[in-house]
Amino acid sequence: MIPFNKPAFLGTELEAIRTALVQNGHAAGGGPFGKRCEALLEGLLGQRTLLVTSATHALELGAHLLDLQAGDEVIVPSFTFVSTANAFALRGAKIRFADVDESGNLSLAEVERLRTPRTRCISVVHYAGNSCDLDALLSLAGDIPVLEDAAQAIDASYKGRPLGTLGACGAFSFHETKNIGCGEGGALTLRDTKLIERAEYYRDKGTNRRKFLGGLVDKYTWVDLGSSLVLSDVNAAYLSCQLEQLQAVQARRGHIWSRYAEALAAPLARVGARFIQPPAHNRPNHHLFGVVFARAEQRTAFIAFMRERGVVTPFHYVSLHLSPFGQRFHDGRALPMTETLSGNLVRLPLFYNQTDAQVDEVIGRTTEFLRAL
Ligand SMILES: Cc1ncc(COP(=O)(O)O)c(C=O)c1O
Repeated sequence: MIPFNKPAFLGTELEAIRTALVQNGHAAGGGPFGKRCEALLEGLLGQRTLLVTSATHALELGAHLLDLQAGDEVIVPSFTFVSTANAFALRGAKIRFADVDESGNLSLAEVERLRTPRTRCISVVHYAGNSCDLDALLSLAGDIPVLEDAAQAIDASYKGRPLGTLGACGAFSFHETKNIGCGEGGALTLRDTKLIERAEYYRDKGTNRRKFLGGLVDKYTWVDLGSSLVLSDVNAAYLSCQLEQLQAVQARRGHIWSRYAEALAAPLARVGARFIQPPAHNRPNHHLFGVVFARAEQRTAFIAFMRERGVVTPFHYVSLHLSPFGQRFHDGRALPMTETLSGNLVRLPLFYNQTDAQVDEVIGRTTEFLRAL
């Protein structure tokens, strides 16, 4: 059996968790490992970054910081994970679903079409760790803040700038399905330094506890709206090991991705299929290897063929504009590329501890299927 994903295991995590519990005696959030993770992330991203419990919570925090109100309009790609839209829907905002381009990233023509005087935010999702033309997006957005959903985009960049750092804020995920993780975890990076103080209040139940811990106030109290988004130091211990060895993980993923690309480009092209490739403006992080079939039935047949041979190859997002909740917001317009990718895209196994023999097996079975198509 070859799973689609296994959480990366680098071998140092258990000792770090032991240190958190036994040596440090600090399991709750805000401990030494949390600080270490934030320092590592700030080194990578070049700006203030808050460790939180998930990308879902990072996005909710972002929507709070951008002061989204009931009735405000937010442009969100329909081809995304539900959390991208939920963050705004929870605040009563009106979601305007946009289509994506061939790479699964937000279509700029759609942003032009959907922008109105009531647009208060544009949420851009960096699908597969790639991005749209962010210079063009930011110039289209003008004064409208851009929230980057960089859940899949750790260590990827746009024209040399880390993804997640070009908009007002950027959300990352450390869920086990991401390049690196800690089971469940996330981060919000903030370009706008004015947002930091409120972000820290919100993360810690609306209190100024962080200032108290830093000796800046003599007691802590309720100062703003808030929730509980602090990551436990047990998770942070796990994550710190993965952040320290991020480049080893990226190199292995890049190797596997390139092997798929080299072996499968021609057989895919022969049957009119393709794979998701990073645009030239990105340095990719090889988050996923996505194959797009010409027809939905071919994708269904491929998933079944691979499953019968013990290889798990899942599809990806289901169009949000067609979902039961998404339809409340949508005007009924077709979003053709979103619908194509929802119906025809499949992902091949790609994870750090995947063996070369498993990579060979996936390539062999995939070519066998394509030959018979
Ligand atoms: C684009 C996108 N946004 C947000 C999330 C949510 O991440 P988390 O599981 O850390 O909340 C995901 C998770 O897969 C995602 O793919």
